[in-house]
Amino acid sequence: MNPSTDVERIGVLTGGGDCPGLNAAIRAVVKPAIYEHDIEVIGIEDGYNGLVQDKMTPLGWDDVSGILAQGGTILGASNKANPFKYYPPDNETKKATDMSEQCVKNFEDAGLDALVCIGGDGTLTIANKLQDLGIPVVGIPKTIDNDVVETDVTFGFGTAVQIVANAVDRIHTTAQSHQRVMVIETMGRYTGWLALNGGMAGGGDIILIPEIEYSIENVCNAIRERHQMGRRFSIVVVAEGVKTPSGEFVERGHVEDSYDQRRLGGISKYLADEIEERTGDETRATILGHVQRGGTPIARDRLLATLLGHEALNAAADGNFGTMAALRGTKTETVSLDKVAGRQRRVDPSGDLVETARAVATYLGD
Ligand code: F6P
Repeated sequence: MNPSTDVERIGVLTGGGDCPGLNAAIRAVVKPAIYEHDIEVIGIEDGYNGLVQDKMTPLGWDDVSGILAQGGTILGASNKANPFKYYPPDNETKKATDMSEQCVKNFEDAGLDALVCIGGDGTLTIANKLQDLGIPVVGIPKTIDNDVVETDVTFGFGTAVQIVANAVDRIHTTAQSHQRVMVIETMGRYTGWLALNGGMAGGGDIILIPEIEYSIENVCNAIRERHQMGRRFSIVVVAEGVKTPSGEFVERGHVEDSYDQRRLGGISKYLADEIEERTGDETRATILGHVQRGGTPIARDRLLATLLGHEALNAAADGNFGTMAALRGTKTETVSLDKVAGRQRRVDPSGDLVETARAVATYLGD
């Protein structure tokens, strides 16, 4: 038994869309739990689905050995399962029910003393509601979108930025060969962190993010100006959350039984058509899609996931519940989950990052 508190057994789950570094975080919860605290860890499958449906398996040392560099999550994930508005996977009537009390029952029946929820804003908001129902929780922030408040950065983001930068590099050479305008669409939901960071690292000429209003004519003028300066191609990086000039999101789908029902995607095609028509330049669109979420985490994300996993485990062992592990500067600490729930961190349009992008002559559409 853990000597400092009466925490003997904890559950861990990965909710929301997956991202690189989840396995590193699971490992960083399980190993110190066994090694430093003599706490037993139970893995909960497929995000909150496993808590509703009581799908749990013990996680031992061997289960988490060798997973540090693996993408995805050994526990499975779900960006749909919400215990407070639960659509069973096989429910043909598509009727939602509140299964949160069932979660409390399953948690208690499994003899759990705490629940570690690894996820983005949706997962952490649900975690906070479960805390209010009496399940002691600790959160760990992850997402390629980097939109969780109260932490400087989320793990998964750095890897996704690298993937976007690599894609922009590759598209550069073909854009140059064919003297084309190439529009590259990133994920990131309602924020522009991924497009801005990946676009800047890849040297995108024009970067459009939801936080900065743009006009198509301004974008076309920037492309024309590049022509006048002898640049025969242009790279436009656009975040999926950028709206059309009439203020509409472009959606590739609508998932009714999901925490966030909107699935964004397609603004790049809209922009490519508009740019081609207005400038006469041959223009192509590339949607990077789920390639941004897959594969091996970069070293920094493995470390960040390890630091945050360990911080969260310590919080659970100390009985410091209703909190989230966060990175502040060079230190990890815990912050109140209340401050995180229901909020999103957005790019500051007058912050250093945007200022620097402008200073290196990146055009931001405004
Ligand atoms: O939140 C992570 C994320 O990849 C977003 O950037 C994107 O909008 C969404 O999830 C995609 O969801 P799905 O995997 O359901 O298509």
